Amino acid sequence: MIFMTTTESAATGSGAPPAAIPGPAGSRLLGMASALRRDLLGTMLDGFHRYGDLVTYRIGPRWERLGPPAVAVHHPDGVRQVLTNPQVFGRRTAGFEVLTEMLGAGLLTSDGDLWKRQRRTLQPLFTPRRVTGYTDLMTAEAERVARHRPGAVDLHQLMQVYTLRVVGRALFGDEVDDVVPDLQRLVPLASDLSLARSMQILRLPLDYPTPRNRRFRRVSAEMYAIVDRILARRAGVVDGSGAGDDMLSRLRAARDPETGQPLSAQEIRDQVLVFLLAGHETTAGALTFTLHLLGRHPEIQERVATGDPDLVRATVLEGMRLYPPAHTTERRASVDTEIAGHRIVRGTPVLVSPWVTHRHPGCWPDPERFDPERFLGEHDRPRYAYFPFGGGPRSCIGEHFAMLEATVLLGTLLARYRVESLDARMRLEPLITLRPAEPVRAVLHARQAAGRST
Ligand code: HEM
Repeated sequence: MIFMTTTESAATGSGAPPAAIPGPAGSRLLGMASALRRDLLGTMLDGFHRYGDLVTYRIGPRWERLGPPAVAVHHPDGVRQVLTNPQVFGRRTAGFEVLTEMLGAGLLTSDGDLWKRQRRTLQPLFTPRRVTGYTDLMTAEAERVARHRPGAVDLHQLMQVYTLRVVGRALFGDEVDDVVPDLQRLVPLASDLSLARSMQILRLPLDYPTPRNRRFRRVSAEMYAIVDRILARRAGVVDGSGAGDDMLSRLRAARDPETGQPLSAQEIRDQVLVFLLAGHETTAGALTFTLHLLGRHPEIQERVATGDPDLVRATVLEGMRLYPPAHTTERRASVDTEIAGHRIVRGTPVLVSPWVTHRHPGCWPDPERFDPERFLGEHDRPRYAYFPFGGGPRSCIGEHFAMLEATVLLGTLLARYRVESLDARMRLEPLITLRPAEPVRAVLHARQAAGRST
């Protein structure tokens, strides 16, 4: 299958009319809106199995002015084309617009020149060398988790506290324990309200006082109140010395290269909120899912518990193959283009989904089987058969950070405990990120000291 960018397709000029992209019709009035809202992941996987690498989903009535139906792109070549051509597949999507209303214009949600400046300012904090400097802090936090009493736990709760503490200390130089319960309550609410708003066919401006709008604004305000608490605690420390090089110091020291202007207070608040959320939620998910899988596969767990760093890393990667925390992301075609010989008209929402592509049988034999060895040694899969951290210019800035944080935790916890998962299946909620819909129950059994080096 050949995938082409706009310029390449224009150059071919074969004259053959592009074939229509197949997809489920859904209901006459709403198309596939209800099915996708009810079971996004199941519906998309089913669409892939029935229709193949490109699937059309009409979401809402067939009104011209609502724009063209969405297209899901599942083949790795198509995913590469979408993620690495931001001029053709841009970020002006309903999902990112709503996220900006909820979280402001931090690195995840900003676009264009503003995004470029932000990424340049923050990138130095996330180089592999810089991230390695956080190893001791992450190890100390993992040890703190491993001091937990043996017995029953909710893995998701445990991992959320770990990842929030790591982000708090590494990026904001702060112990954020006091904000953990509030964030645990607010994150799913914010995610749910944002997703529902982004799928609304007619979106009323937020200042219309509908009950939903009022809730949306209240949740956003509560999250900013948490950010303000963190900023207030750090105000004296950072401003006083000016010497720190954590994220806050960097944000406060940043100057626009052209105007010399510092960031406004609001820009700093937006950035802190985005990193507080993006920096913990996904990694907590990745760790929870991986530990749950290990708890269901004791023989694999025993091998990982030996602490072989390559195997620990492969296990985290395999956990994210089956349960990618960023399960789906969206772009919008900003010009008429083609994917695999199919016409994509300007304005088309384009979905790429690690959930589906990570199960592509052409790249992943026996795709539902948990097998970390897929990530050991040589393999010849296409680059975009696996993209839990996205790709192209908007790929995850926190990838090295998250991988180190996850491998440190897994190594430390499994050296101390054998994890037994109590439930065969996890119920999942694909909100903006993939979350367990209920506690992920496990029992931690203390390992015998004998046989371990002391
Ligand atoms: C396992 C953990 C993580 C996963 C699976 C993950 C996944 C992703 C993905 C897929 C994107 C791109 C979204 C898109 O293309 O639309 C992204 C972007 C981003 N991530 Fe992560 N992430 C993780 C951890 C982190 C951490 C630890 C941080 C911060 C410390 C972070 C901060 C961000 C930010 C700020 C962006 C936006 C980057 C930009 O647009 O320039 N993430 N992440």
